[in-house]
Amino acid sequence: MIRAAITAVGHFLPEDRLTNQDLEQMVDTSDEWIRVRTGIRERRILRDPTKATSYMAARAAQEVLQKRGIEPEEIDLIIVATVTPDMFFPATACLVQRDIGARRAWGFDLSAACSGFLFALATGAQFIASGQHQKVLVIGADKMSAITDYTDRRTCVLFGDAAGAVLLEPALDSEVGIMDMCLYCDGSGAEALCMPGGGSLNPPSYKTIDAKMHFLYQDGPTVFKRAVEGMADVAAEIMARNGLSGEDVAYLVPHQANWRIIEATARRMGIGREKVMVNIDRYGNTTAATIPLCLYDWEARLKRGDNLILASFGAGYTWGAIYLRWAYDGTRVGFGMESEAQLSAS
Ligand code: COA
Repeated sequence: MIRAAITAVGHFLPEDRLTNQDLEQMVDTSDEWIRVRTGIRERRILRDPTKATSYMAARAAQEVLQKRGIEPEEIDLIIVATVTPDMFFPATACLVQRDIGARRAWGFDLSAACSGFLFALATGAQFIASGQHQKVLVIGADKMSAITDYTDRRTCVLFGDAAGAVLLEPALDSEVGIMDMCLYCDGSGAEALCMPGGGSLNPPSYKTIDAKMHFLYQDGPTVFKRAVEGMADVAAEIMARNGLSGEDVAYLVPHQANWRIIEATARRMGIGREKVMVNIDRYGNTTAATIPLCLYDWEARLKRGDNLILASFGAGYTWGAIYLRWAYDGTRVGFGMESEAQLSAS
């Protein structure tokens, strides 16, 4: 059986920071409220109005190519998970394909909000497992500032802009790669977290603009309750299915929506704080980018064979977990094709 393995990680973070102190000047909020309720201290914002999600996604993809030491022409498929595409169509994946020069690749966007990266990783892995493709770029990218109402304190403190990307390739042996996945959706939660305007139900009009329907809406407490249950349940489910205890898990790689949701998931899994990837304090909730951003930040500490549990909950509702065994030691920076030999030797 061919397993798909992550063989490189890239990212893009805009330079501009929006701190809790900045937000105190914009809406009726406080640094303390934001830190205690969410764990966020600052987030990054892509302020240049001429740049959008595809710009960040392409930069993250280019870093993956550079770290893996491969040419853009070698990419077979590009999947971009996003809820903030540059345009409804064409797909952001097509814009990335053009911008990075991936001439042989096909691609598409995938909409699953905060679970977008997990769903895209699961999808991309099938093309590797089937033997259809050798190199699949999976990107999570969102310019959340484009759909955030900076007069609404309930949502504007939560989100940031970023992109993260990974390369999927056939694992060189069955010891590493994506081992299992549990994925769910429940449309009964659709109205609790959504952007009501701009689609075919509420096409753009003066009325939809006046009603602020082109900004994201969230019923925070309702989503919070479901997210705590959903993420903890699915993480416990995938561990039980694979006979894993807390001791077997090297890291939980959770979607970064709220520190309290992450903490509840870790507790349920029976793992300590040191085994949880958390960067929500620095980037906020970057929707589809959170999980690959965590992998990027922790890459240097990861070792071949480490058991990782990726878990998410988001709009839809959508939620899920992926169990994977990490394929390489440390960072790929400076490694080129010669790292194939290192991979085989290890
Ligand atoms: N600053 C200060 N006060 C704020 C505030 C802010 N930025 N935002 C809300 N408040 C107020 C509310 O108005 C409310 O005041 P009231 O009691 O006088 O009405 C109070 O704080 C509590 O609000 P509530 O919404 O109940 O807070 P909460 O503890 O649920 O935290 C979220 C709000 C959004 C942080 C939390 O609900 C959450 O994380 N939800 C889930 C997010 C998620 O997982 N989404 C899915 C993936 S994107």
